[in-house]
Amino acid sequence: MDLEELIALAESERAGRLPVEVRVCLAASCLGSGAGGVRDAIAGAIADRGLAGRVRLREVGCLRLCSEGPLVQVDSEGADPALYAKVDARLAPVIASAASGDPAEGIRLVDLGSPFFALQRPIVLENTGVVEPERIESSLAAGAYRSLHHALHELGPEGMIAEVTRSGLRGRGGAGYPTGLKWATVAKMPPGPKYVVCNADEGDPGAFMDRSVMESDPHRVLEGMAIAALAVGADRGYIYVRGEYPLAIARLDTAIRQARRLGLLGSMIFDSPFNFRVDLRIGAGAFVCGEETALMQSIEGRRGQPRPRPPYPAESGLWGCPTLINNVETFANIPAIIREGSDWFSAIGTEGSKGTKVFALAGKVRNSGLVEVPMGLPLRTIVDQIGGGAPEGSTTKAVQTGGPSGGCIPSGLFDTPVEYEALKALGSIMGSGGMIVMDQDDDMVGIARFFMKFCMDESCGKCVPCRAGTVQLYRMLDRIERGVAPAGELGRLEALCDLVKHASLCGLGQAAPNPVLSTLRFFRHEYESRLVSPDGDGARAPTPR
Ligand SMILES: Cc1cc2nc3c(=O)[nH]c(=O)nc-3n(C[C@H](O)[C@H](O)[C@H](O)COP(=O)(O)O)c2cc1C
Ligand code: SF4
Ligand code: FES
Repeated sequence: MDLEELIALAESERAGRLPVEVRVCLAASCLGSGAGGVRDAIAGAIADRGLAGRVRLREVGCLRLCSEGPLVQVDSEGADPALYAKVDARLAPVIASAASGDPAEGIRLVDLGSPFFALQRPIVLENTGVVEPERIESSLAAGAYRSLHHALHELGPEGMIAEVTRSGLRGRGGAGYPTGLKWATVAKMPPGPKYVVCNADEGDPGAFMDRSVMESDPHRVLEGMAIAALAVGADRGYIYVRGEYPLAIARLDTAIRQARRLGLLGSMIFDSPFNFRVDLRIGAGAFVCGEETALMQSIEGRRGQPRPRPPYPAESGLWGCPTLINNVETFANIPAIIREGSDWFSAIGTEGSKGTKVFALAGKVRNSGLVEVPMGLPLRTIVDQIGGGAPEGSTTKAVQTGGPSGGCIPSGLFDTPVEYEALKALGSIMGSGGMIVMDQDDDMVGIARFFMKFCMDESCGKCVPCRAGTVQLYRMLDRIERGVAPAGELGRLEALCDLVKHASLCGLGQAAPNPVLSTLRFFRHEYESRLVSPDGDGARAPTPR
């Protein structure tokens, strides 16, 4: 395929558009609340009313306000788009009425001008909910693979690496390592086999950003990987997806086959000497397999256990070859950076944190779903305006970012901007994007115990500080929560946290104490009030679980 053919396919797709398009979200969350039946019922209602020549049903990915799903959007020429919430199959005739231009009654209309949408800045998500993830033509019409063509024929490897470096993009998988620097390191390695790996393991409880991107816009991830492969000189790539994401796996698989068929992946891409083959590897759900060295062991067919670094994957990765590992969202930023340029990207965000961040906003907020905001936005704006604040009868207490490696930030500090360093200074981390809002009923000791149990269960057991330390930390937290821990326990808890943090081999153990330390820092009274006093009195009744 050459550029003309690509443009012709995109134009023919655009020419096939009908005056009215009904977009039904068929991503995991909406499917779980019955979107499949809604799609079938709307298709039936369109046919019954003889609207097939005027109205087209599109099966799209996440429309972002997942808590209100199933979501259906009606786009009519010359009218404002209308987004309908909590649609069930019985409402299909109402949707068909809306598509005919008649009033839609008895159905919940979402305000697309509300802060939930207005304050977001979709870059990674620009085509999420817009393109049909199972039809490559739909992605091509939205511009997919144009950046790859530009990179291949105009920028060249050095130009691409320079653009990504200048953009200031940092890895979205958690650590925030500068992406351009990582690419440059792999590119500088001597010629020979090199690999590109997309980390789609997404093991943090509460996180679903990467899943949504893969389910909703898989070609974007593939295009980002292909550009990276071209930049570093790799011809083989793997996407390591967790087995709990069957829909993402199926859509990626379809997307890979479609892109291969059109010569956008595989051999002689865009009729050039560039070859890039992508394969899927399915993880079995171990959190530690998201750690890059464990992930590579797992791809190689060995037990997924971390190994010491250096050597870093960029020098010695898969089968001892230089390997570039980036997160799903990191790759999904690349097509936009190549298309719009590094100056455009670096103008968004803050000095040290450029661009946007996608969050999976969940917990005690009115609006939960997929949220993409410019870096630097205060946490308060995300929780109170985008999230709509606490539901009636509850008061926001804290927000948890970074999952089991992160921390809890109290509402008093919600003016903190969302950026790597600011969150780290509070003892939390940006993490990959899980954001769980908590209210007055959430018990911080219980939260810390929950995350410690997670780390204890997920510890691979290779090193003692993590294997034994997480068990001991869990037991201490359990005793504190039950009100049977002696006075002085907090000192011992902190000392053990310090040891586990500094002596563990990989990020799982090193970050496991974070939820404990951050809750001790900001909610110490919740711990102290549970300790048995020196005169032997129990502090307070144990918390029921
Ligand atoms: C226990 C553990 C789990 C991790 N899980 C993930 C994950 O699910 N997805 C991810 O992209 N990175 C994960 N990481 C970070 C990766 O090791 C690695 O830094 C990342 O994939 C690099 O990509 P980036 O530079 O684009 O962020 C994890 C790290 C640790 C220590
Ligand atoms: S820190 Fe924990 S997960 Fe990491 S290698 Fe050691 S035992 Fe395994
Ligand atoms: S999954 Fe449907 S709106 Fe997010």
